[in-house]
Amino acid sequence: MWTIRNFAQTRSTNDDAAPLLGAAEHAGTVLVADYQTAGHGRHDRAWVAPPGSSLLCTTILPEPIATSALWAVPFWTGLALADAIESLTGHRVTLQWPNDLLVRGAKCAGILCISRVIGTRAFVGCGTGVNVVRPDDTSVFAEVLPAPAFLSDLEPRITRDDVRVAMLAAYARRLPDLADSAGIARAWEARAELDGTPYRLLVDGSSEPIVAIAREIASDGSLIVDHDGRRRHIALADARVLREFGFDSIIEG
Ligand code: BTN
Repeated sequence: MWTIRNFAQTRSTNDDAAPLLGAAEHAGTVLVADYQTAGHGRHDRAWVAPPGSSLLCTTILPEPIATSALWAVPFWTGLALADAIESLTGHRVTLQWPNDLLVRGAKCAGILCISRVIGTRAFVGCGTGVNVVRPDDTSVFAEVLPAPAFLSDLEPRITRDDVRVAMLAAYARRLPDLADSAGIARAWEARAELDGTPYRLLVDGSSEPIVAIAREIASDGSLIVDHDGRRRHIALADARVLREFGFDSIIEG
């Protein structure tokens, strides 16, 4: 089902995959890089990973999906990646809206999906950055608070190949789920134990974070929360999740 293409270095596997979306010969292609010089995450933030430390890859799904289901793909990816990491480490993975994976309260993986829409069909690439082997020099993460987690903290012998193999197996198992976007959202909510979870959010245009109680995922991927006695929809593009770390610091997640 998958064709793996390895690169020692590239700018960004997502950028490399974008022009391949929709080409029949690239369905199921997985671009994997040891190092990215311009890896990026959500909100245009840089995604930094020292060479060889992380699984940096973009997986082009074998089949297009319904354009109306696009919003659910990052949640689907998170579920599959959580399966993979839990099976390899035996540790519980926490899913945090919109699409972060945490272990022991620290981020171990991020997801940024790309797509090309042709009418009612969308061709999708699932970009994943998974911190696998803790590098000797972690100075590049000095600004990242709380510090990122690496899977080798949990399972010292783990390799990037282990994570890639388990992730692609989980994608393959879960491919049929992509036909049911509402089902993906319900599965994600259950896995994240979302209902009742407090989220500290910085909504664009506001300088003051709010603490809201998460309730569910709406049918466009936004987070439905209770805040100040009313129900609100927090759109994917319009807010950042802040993670509390320690006593009084507010940290962008
Ligand atoms: C996030 O948490 O903000 C998402 C991070 C996604 C990073 C991955 S690494 C592989 C792929 N290529 C990129 O440039 N970004 C994604």
